[in-house]
Amino acid sequence: GEISNLEEKNKLAEKISGKIKDGEVIGVGSGSTAYLALKAISKRVKQEGLEVLAVPTSKEALLNCSMLGLKTTTLSAAKPDWGFDGADEVDSNNRLIKGRGGALFAEKLVMASAPKTYILVDESKFVDRLGEKFPVPLEVDPRAIHLVETRLAQFPIQGVKLRMAKSKDGPVITESGNLILDVRFKKISNEMEKELSFIPGVIETGLFISYSVEILTV
Ligand code: A5P
Repeated sequence: GEISNLEEKNKLAEKISGKIKDGEVIGVGSGSTAYLALKAISKRVKQEGLEVLAVPTSKEALLNCSMLGLKTTTLSAAKPDWGFDGADEVDSNNRLIKGRGGALFAEKLVMASAPKTYILVDESKFVDRLGEKFPVPLEVDPRAIHLVETRLAQFPIQGVKLRMAKSKDGPVITESGNLILDVRFKKISNEMEKELSFIPGVIETGLFISYSVEILTV
């Protein structure tokens, strides 16, 4: 759970903060691990007076940057030198499932824009079979929800659920105004990231298969 992995997450935060260099533009991930990393980075930036620009992957990350006093920029203004983020699942081929926090679209945009992304994972994130614990989230334009559900029948699916909000009524609405379908697959192939994105109305998938990532562990 969150508490038992805190020590691991803090060690990862120390590791990643050691990689920051003056003048860099850094992609900043979302979630609890990325938050601890950001805290450690902001501490170093303050102590050493470094000039670092953050490219946040969510409103949550943007807010954290501003509260921690880190300057931010956007993908339309700058290209990240590298980035860091968490993950929900990692398999032995470094394939990832992300998007528990709902920020998958911007997370993938930032990851695809950076030459390298460090994925900070504690022991609990490693799986033998991708999709073992987490469903694959699909961010879907609300107009396409039935179309996507219909097309999903061509995939080896086990179940599909519209993600519901926990602290308000109705479904989760993403930062881009879309819905999230959480999809359980019997098997996840490498081609599926592209095949799922090919369905009209699928804005992004939580499968992160073909990116330049380095898995960082304690
Ligand atoms: C956010 O959308 C996710 O992709 C996160 O990267 C993921 O949920 C990791 O979060 P924790 O570090 O809190 O486990």
